Amino acid sequence: MQITVTGAAGYIGSHACLRLLDDGHEVHGLDNFSRSFPRTVAALQRAGGERFHFTQVELNDQDATVAALRLHVPEIVLHFAAFAVVPESVQFPLLYWRNNVGATVSLLHAMDAADVQKLIFSSTCATYGEPAPTHIPMSEDCPQQPTHAYGESKLACERMINAWVQSHALANRDRGAVFLRYFNVAGGDHLDRIGEDHDPETHLIPICMRAATGRHPELVVYGSDYPTPDGTCIRDYVHVEDLVAAHVEAIKVIPLRQTLAMNVGTGVGASVLEVLRACSLAAGSKVPFRMGARRDGDPPRLISNPEKIFRLTPWRPTRSSLERMTQSAWRWFAK
Ligand SMILES: NC(=O)c1ccc[n+]([C@@H]2O[C@H](COP(=O)([O-])OP(=O)(O)OC[C@H]3O[C@@H](n4cnc5c(N)ncnc54)[C@H](O)[C@@H]3O)[C@@H](O)[C@H]2O)c1
Repeated sequence: MQITVTGAAGYIGSHACLRLLDDGHEVHGLDNFSRSFPRTVAALQRAGGERFHFTQVELNDQDATVAALRLHVPEIVLHFAAFAVVPESVQFPLLYWRNNVGATVSLLHAMDAADVQKLIFSSTCATYGEPAPTHIPMSEDCPQQPTHAYGESKLACERMINAWVQSHALANRDRGAVFLRYFNVAGGDHLDRIGEDHDPETHLIPICMRAATGRHPELVVYGSDYPTPDGTCIRDYVHVEDLVAAHVEAIKVIPLRQTLAMNVGTGVGASVLEVLRACSLAAGSKVPFRMGARRDGDPPRLISNPEKIFRLTPWRPTRSSLERMTQSAWRWFAK
């Protein structure tokens, strides 16, 4: 199958490309390198050979996006490209509205221009905001009330894609999309060809690896008085290879003339202190940290109810133990 992947040089997009190439597909990656590096594309080229094509393109440039999509017209688009740093979105909300919503507007125009029908959109549990305790674990009908521009921009994209699908259906044309709402993603490729490579890094596990080797100035645990067993926040971590496997299954169930939203999490949570302990074990040295005050907008628990994706697909998380995710993150970091 010919598949286009936006955000192909980014953390999750590059792991998706690798899996699709390993499965024998022909993949066309698009990225502007605003949050990623050409070295990741080089690793994908090594892995995919002639089946991997790459175009550097700014998705907010609609004409350039149309031209890029027409280079290798795909059966399906996996849309990962976005800015995804919550505190940055609080500081610079317009950046997030412009980049995340604007890029998706361009992409939908380009899909129409190239007559591409199917889309998988990278959404997030941040579209749910701070759910009431009665909504945890969170299923897809949990109210979507985002609390920052990042979550707002992703929810706006979901709504826009839904309107795009519906408008085509009214005109008797087929379009369809799946929204995968990810929880916390961690780990890297099992062969260590690529891994999590953000700069600056804002995710807990790679920061722990840096802290364990003295390359992160100070790791602060935000809040030790939450109503959780050890007082720190609990999140649902999913291995990036499990997450990508969920996309492979989602490709098979994209509905036409409708959209389908599915959470991608394990249903099991880990506290910040549990993650720190697992990282210390993986790195073979203690992760130094200090306790700090709570941050605004950090709910005590964000845990997925994965029942819907379990019901609609054969997907199950098989690599998402803390041990496996932190060991994989450490191997990549050490390499
Ligand atoms: N990492 C997580 O834990 C997580 C959790 C929930 C949802 N998500 C979603 O998954 C997707 C991928 O996340 P990630 O962690 O891989 O992020 P990332 O920053 O590593 O990758 C995003 C990629 O998109 C590219 N990009 C951004 N704006 C672009 C534009 N206008 N034109 C072209 N390329 C552009 C960046 O250069 C980068 O390579 C995002 O949509 C994010 O919202 C991630």
